[in-house]
Amino acid sequence: MTSHTTSSNIDNVLHETRVIEPPAQFAAAANLSREDYERLYRQSLDDPDTFWAEVAGELTWMQPWTQVLDWQEPHVKWFVGGQTNIAYNALDRQVALGRGDKRAFIWEGEDGEVRTFTYAELLREVKRAANMLISLGVQSGDRVTLYLPLIPEAAIAMLACARIGAVHSVVFGGFSVSALSDRLNDAQSKLLITADAGYRKGALVPLKANADAAAQNVPSLEHMLVVCRADCDAAMQPGRDVWWHDALAAASDGHQAASLDSEHPLFILYTSGSTGKPKGVLHTTGGYMVAASMTMQTAFDLKEDDVFWCTADVGWVTGHSYTVYGPLLRGATAVMYEGAPNHPDWGRFWQIVEKHKVSILYTAPTAIRSFMRQGDGYPNRSDLSSLRLLGSVGEPINPEAWMWYFRVIGGERCPVIDTWWQTETGTIMLTTLPGAFPGKPGSAGLPMFGVEPAIVTREGTELGPDEGGYLIIKRPWPSMLRTVYGDDERYRKTYWGEIPHVYFAGDGARRDADGYITVVGRVDDVLNVSGHRLGTMEIESVLVAHPSVSEAAVVGRPDDLKGEGVVAFVTPQSGYVLDPAAIRAHITREIGALARPDAIVVADALPKTRSGKIMRRFLRQIAAGKEIQGDTSTLEDPSVLERLQAADLL
Ligand code: WTA
Repeated sequence: MTSHTTSSNIDNVLHETRVIEPPAQFAAAANLSREDYERLYRQSLDDPDTFWAEVAGELTWMQPWTQVLDWQEPHVKWFVGGQTNIAYNALDRQVALGRGDKRAFIWEGEDGEVRTFTYAELLREVKRAANMLISLGVQSGDRVTLYLPLIPEAAIAMLACARIGAVHSVVFGGFSVSALSDRLNDAQSKLLITADAGYRKGALVPLKANADAAAQNVPSLEHMLVVCRADCDAAMQPGRDVWWHDALAAASDGHQAASLDSEHPLFILYTSGSTGKPKGVLHTTGGYMVAASMTMQTAFDLKEDDVFWCTADVGWVTGHSYTVYGPLLRGATAVMYEGAPNHPDWGRFWQIVEKHKVSILYTAPTAIRSFMRQGDGYPNRSDLSSLRLLGSVGEPINPEAWMWYFRVIGGERCPVIDTWWQTETGTIMLTTLPGAFPGKPGSAGLPMFGVEPAIVTREGTELGPDEGGYLIIKRPWPSMLRTVYGDDERYRKTYWGEIPHVYFAGDGARRDADGYITVVGRVDDVLNVSGHRLGTMEIESVLVAHPSVSEAAVVGRPDDLKGEGVVAFVTPQSGYVLDPAAIRAHITREIGALARPDAIVVADALPKTRSGKIMRRFLRQIAAGKEIQGDTSTLEDPSVLERLQAADLL
């Protein structure tokens, strides 16, 4: 594994020296002060049992735990022996606390339709959905795959699964038929919940048709539940397919949440890794719930009357933890928006903020950079005075975008928190508590409670201030992944085996003298394109499956908007002519549009060592339009590099 930096903004990040003090008004009302953080952080490391028992004690347990932590590397149990239910805590508990009439969700469709659910209404829907799942034969422990647009039914389905102990596996609606089919099979799902179609920039995405195609090779699948989002015009297979609205209408709204072991599996979420096949990251109930609730409260300085909008789709981990579970666990009002940020124009987000009086906005750097490119006109047309806190997630944020977000969107009144975490970590791991600490544009900041990070060499030796190295976590935390579904060996190797006895994040980082950690990008073969993780090997294996492709190597190149772009180097199979359009269509079909290469280089050969290893380092330099640096003498044929440099990017 070679360390390489992945963002065009890294130079900026490394030379950034601005420090933005927390706006005074915000700091005065913040939930936690700097002293609070320092005391609690110390306690969370020195006396984790007391710290976590207190945090977990804020939630409802049907049976108390007997032990906070049981760590037998690489396997962990949190709140051992405890029984609880995350959907109960998200809904029943809120109603019991008097939030029955408070709005839980405000959903806005791309077409402008608005649906709101109070906690009591959402609870009723989830109870019915739970009964509907049971009537379709779903039992505790069964896997249920969701392939849905960002509509309320997605959250309802997740909560209904959690309520009965079924394990949800959400597959982003932008993934292709074969990606869906692979994930259904890997999880051996019994039920697939989809919709007739979804809206994207006014056009219809044929989800049900994709689901039908994907279901053809999934022996475990028994039923398909279909939400009507568009016109209910879907071909229903008798005996297998059921309309959501019909089954829901027939279901009773009386249901008691299952009492589940703290380590009962809650969800599987597939994400890209260094090798070909996406991995099913498995999260369990108790620890995930406690960390989602705690980070929601502290990192976002949540108050009772906040309107919280996390723009992430439920197909990603951010959507799990901060579009659905986090806000509900704290009894907040959450906004959900179905569509694209630029539909019908680039003012859409700001109209939503104004209309629903959003007070906390949590979005991704790629979106911020896109807005910035459109100028200040769009945000200035809306009243953004309801905002009080801004968050960023998913990829490094360049200081320019950070400052624009702070200045133009936040009116210099709202702190910006840059949150670093991963599908595997479940919840936020690094950020600066707003109001308690100044922000440093480009730097995620300090560890959350219970998180003990370090920057180390490849051998595991800790590095000093400002020295770049590998980001690791030295001890288990409640919301960490428990395994890779069906492949525990891969879990052990990938996360606890790269550097002995520590969690290997796969990111490069450095820490400054104040303890702020700046995450610069992946150190493995994972790309981060618009905040979405893509495995280069995953794309390569799809490329070589195309009849016209002989060999393929995929690398990232810096992209001002997306953070990283995908560049594919391909050699043709003899007797074939490579057609870039056909290659792009093939990738879209096999993975999804999000993996479509930004540039394709057709070559007669790839740079290989004498032992046949492709030297991706040189390809990255070529893709970025840089001079070739490094020792080329190990290459079997160094002249390949010149030919690649001269080749057109298609
Ligand atoms: C990157 C998303 C810099 C990082 C929650 C990580 C970030 C990967 C940040 C996880 C950040 C996420 N600053 N880089 N604030 N947040 N990343 O699993 O490379 O989709 O390993 O989880 O995104 O992506 P994932």
